[in-house]
Amino acid sequence: MAKKRYAVCGVSGRALGMFISSILKDFKDVSEVVGLLDIDTLRFEYAKERFPELKDVPCYLPQDFDKMLNETKPDALLVVCKDCNHVDYLLKGLENDLDVICEKPLCTNTEDVVKVIQAEKKSKGRVIATFNYRYAPIHRKLREMLIEKKVGRITHVDLNWYIDIRHGASYFNRWNRMRENSGSLSIHKASHHFDLVNWWIDGTPETVHAFGALNHYGPDAVFNPSKKDGRRCLICKEKANCPYVNRWVSRTNQQAAATETHMSELLGVERKYSHDLYVPDRCIFDSEINIHDTLIANVRYTNGVLLNYSANFSTPWEGYRLAINGTHGRIECEEWGGVGHESFPMPGTGKRSLDYYPIFGSKETHWVQDGVGGHGGGDSVIKEDIFLGVDPARKYKILADSHDALRSIAIGDAVWNSIKGEKIIDLRKEIPEDIFGEIKADFE
Ligand SMILES: NC(=O)c1ccc[n+]([C@@H]2O[C@H](COP(=O)([O-])OP(=O)(O)OC[C@H]3O[C@@H](n4cnc5c(N)ncnc54)[C@H](O)[C@@H]3O)[C@@H](O)[C@H]2O)c1
Repeated sequence: MAKKRYAVCGVSGRALGMFISSILKDFKDVSEVVGLLDIDTLRFEYAKERFPELKDVPCYLPQDFDKMLNETKPDALLVVCKDCNHVDYLLKGLENDLDVICEKPLCTNTEDVVKVIQAEKKSKGRVIATFNYRYAPIHRKLREMLIEKKVGRITHVDLNWYIDIRHGASYFNRWNRMRENSGSLSIHKASHHFDLVNWWIDGTPETVHAFGALNHYGPDAVFNPSKKDGRRCLICKEKANCPYVNRWVSRTNQQAAATETHMSELLGVERKYSHDLYVPDRCIFDSEINIHDTLIANVRYTNGVLLNYSANFSTPWEGYRLAINGTHGRIECEEWGGVGHESFPMPGTGKRSLDYYPIFGSKETHWVQDGVGGHGGGDSVIKEDIFLGVDPARKYKILADSHDALRSIAIGDAVWNSIKGEKIIDLRKEIPEDIFGEIKADFE
């Protein structure tokens, strides 16, 4: 069988660690990387240094996209660059009848996802949105319990997500901190969370209301050593007074400590970028930051479910608290420790259990083993579905598509617009009627 040919748009940390490494190893019999595209030529050097197998793979700048297609003849694009650029590659890929596998968030606003859905209708290519959190074993188990109607008809969801000082701060060091790049954290990060809820409850969101604030980052933050723009963590003279940096490095051992922690990424020690194009260690207290670090949102779905959501990006530990209530019971889930690191020195990280409380009866606890790999084991399973085809043994839909992307991004964008406009957002007015009808019909 011919190998599927992938061109990678954005030689990002995620592209290398999640996709390219796997194509070269686990899926090398069925797939190959035929082209690399980025704005930064240093990323090509770094990729080839890290993966010598890429030695002969041709590299292109964005303006040479068409040349890349002509010369490398890919079957699919892997879109793994900065969020705001996803839409360009999605549209060009679909125009050329290519499949497009795109990292979350598919786009940075509702309007662009609608354009992608319209383009997909005219194309032979299909869009996959890589919502890997769905694949974590505990999230799949929860989906299965809800399909079994353990809670009856779902009525109400509480979800509070906590992103710790290490992971949270990383968004404020980099491009993610600007709405124009990432859509804001209500899209860049929370679209993951909204997608999980939408998937668990078969929900199409209808109305959204939110509040947001910037409390922990930006110039007015309480731990800002001084109000000054343009500092960089690696060379900052005020580092000694910055608790966010000092949590991870010591005075005499910055580089060594950095290689042990996320500071390796933060300080650009491991990740290599041309710093005239990309600075990965901008100060988290800069005044240009224009997104929120504290969010609360309410969502009403067309199926009547009500969601109560919050996210905080500067907490001592990482994880979430979730409760799904229904006419016949309630399921609770708590996760500590989160995404591959322990943020706070406390026991109990990595707890994975679902507590089921029938309205009348006795509690049941289901313990679920994490899988191997990132995001609780979700990353390795989604890659199998992407590169080998969807597992035919699974009885429910899990690999996300452009409709799923729209449902989640429409909430995240409405959160932003609700905060800015201090109003309730009606998604039936934000999404064209025919497309709203189609995403609603997915669950009817
Ligand atoms: N699903 C997940 O769990 C998960 C985890 C991490 C990142 N992501 C997503 O993966 C993507 C990459 O994130 P990252 O943190 O690894 O990125 P990164 O910061 O490591 O790299 C971004 C890359 O995009 C390149 N780039 C910038 N503009 C470009 C353009 N116009 N065309 C092509 N390339 C361009 C940069 O040069 C850089 O190489 C993002 O969309 C992010 O949201 C998803």
